Amino acid sequence: MTVRPPCTALNVPKTVVLIGMMGSGKTAVGRRLAKRLNLPFVDADAEIEAAAGCSIRDIFELHGEAAFRAGERRIMARLLDQPVRILAAGGGAFIDPDTRAQIAAKGISVWLKADKEALIRRLRKRSMNRPLLHTKNPSAAIERLMAEREPIYALADITVESVDGSTEDTVTRVLKALENYLRKRGQMVS
Ligand code: S3P
Repeated sequence: MTVRPPCTALNVPKTVVLIGMMGSGKTAVGRRLAKRLNLPFVDADAEIEAAAGCSIRDIFELHGEAAFRAGERRIMARLLDQPVRILAAGGGAFIDPDTRAQIAAKGISVWLKADKEALIRRLRKRSMNRPLLHTKNPSAAIERLMAEREPIYALADITVESVDGSTEDTVTRVLKALENYLRKRGQMVS
């Protein structure tokens, strides 16, 4: 029998938006975090695909990255207007200034920060929905994206290291960081 980690009494006042590079664990951590907080979970990439009626790969191929980004901006705005939930954003969402402003106004951003080796290891087998990695040298693409994006991810409200090992450990660290963040702002209700 698996022992379920307990729900926590932490009362989150705004949608928690998980941001960070592809492969940083936003979806896996987000699902478990949602269970622990007893909140709904939503994955922005899945919502974009549902709205477009085709895969991210096809959106990039048929319409180009700019069209994908426009769709992502619209979906993120819609999701941020819904009741409090856990939202896993696509890796590029927080880089868009409009989406970043929406997240700052309506959410709490949590950067799952992973190192390059861990990302390369995790992404080796999972590049299907990640057209930005469909290049001759995906490791170099990851490195370039990290260099461009990390200064922007660092603007998040909270940063949590996403290290290899148990996803549940990362979830526990996110919960602790959220609790500290809310306590500092006097928003802690339990
Ligand atoms: C992207 C990340 C992907 C997906 C798309 C673009 C990016 O989401 O939105 O392939 O720009 O980093 P994940 O971060 O969930 O893989």
